[in-house]
Amino acid sequence: MFESLEERPTDAIMALMALAKADTNPNKIDLGVGVYKSDDGATPIMRAVKQAEGLYLTEEATKSYVSTIGNADFRKTMLDLIFGADYPALREDRIASAQSTGGSGALRLGAELIKSSGKEPSVWVPTPTWANHEPLIGSAGLQIKSYPYYNRETLGVDFEDMLDHLRQNAKPGDAVVLHGCCHNPTGADLSPDQWDRTAEFLRDNQLVPFIDLAYFGLGHGLTEDTYGLRKVGETCPEVLLAASCSKNFALYKERVGLVAAITTSADQARVVQGQFGALQRRLTSMPPDHGAALVARILDDAALRDVWLEELTEMRGRIKDLRKDLSDALRVQGAEAMAAAIIDQNGMFSTLPLSVEQVHRLRSEHSVYMTNSGRINIAGANSTNIPALADAILKVL
Ligand code: LMR
Repeated sequence: MFESLEERPTDAIMALMALAKADTNPNKIDLGVGVYKSDDGATPIMRAVKQAEGLYLTEEATKSYVSTIGNADFRKTMLDLIFGADYPALREDRIASAQSTGGSGALRLGAELIKSSGKEPSVWVPTPTWANHEPLIGSAGLQIKSYPYYNRETLGVDFEDMLDHLRQNAKPGDAVVLHGCCHNPTGADLSPDQWDRTAEFLRDNQLVPFIDLAYFGLGHGLTEDTYGLRKVGETCPEVLLAASCSKNFALYKERVGLVAAITTSADQARVVQGQFGALQRRLTSMPPDHGAALVARILDDAALRDVWLEELTEMRGRIKDLRKDLSDALRVQGAEAMAAAIIDQNGMFSTLPLSVEQVHRLRSEHSVYMTNSGRINIAGANSTNIPALADAILKVL
């Protein structure tokens, strides 16, 4: 059996992680994988998570199974956090949800739900998008199509092109993946006005928004970063959501995520929730509980929640400071357009206008690591190496 299998290349982002790790240059700058780092290059466990974990270890009474849709407290506290407890669809019990194995598991469950509808819609993803969107969603058996999003010349969103393309090519019932905030890989987000127009556009063209909310809290703030999701949820009858706690709770390896669907009625939500449970059972049976239990503990406890919010605010502030420092350093050297884009963009990522060859030169000549597309994770830089980073970028340009 196994002899017929072909060798597969290692995932590009995972391979880049290994390359950066193996580089012994003490001045290397690793801007690869989307993992938050503090100024000393570490990815610490958040203070609130450590405290919750201490409490949880003494309180936890069993390792028995939870359920196919996961931890109920986690689902409730997450939905309240994302939508706000007064959100109409939440108050009316129109939101189905399931805990998932990270944001990736949520994307996959969302894709499986679309597939289960039996309607064979296409799923539209932006160009560019997170490299794993197509494999995760496509391998549920759905056809993936692309719409224009980021313009590598203007370093901004091609908003009218995006709407025109979808207007002309998408069919009623198709799903459209939108990054809720902190677009991966470009950091170029829709403005609130653009979200308002997008929501109406999707409703008028009977398209179903599928919002990937992997980095909320790390852009402008929890409320600002969920604006687009809440807007489409108030405007369109049906919405899918894949949310992650990997980044904003720094729980990466614990694999904590939430899939949710805004539906048209409480009855419909009950059916969708049952589907989520059945789909999860078929794929992995149940999501892991540890990380989700910690998130629920933090969100349920006012004191722990404050500790978490404070640290999240620090992380967001540090990302903004690094953006400003890099932008200033590039501006001094005359790279005006790049400097302006880095300030406008949001969250950990920006995509620099570099060729693959320039990216490889940055790696081999300067020990600066980023994906071949020119995506940088700005949180991988620090207050002392920004001038060297700007210098290296300018040298290869
Ligand atoms: C990234 O985009 O770097 C992260 O989301 C990590 C991953 O799994 O690709």
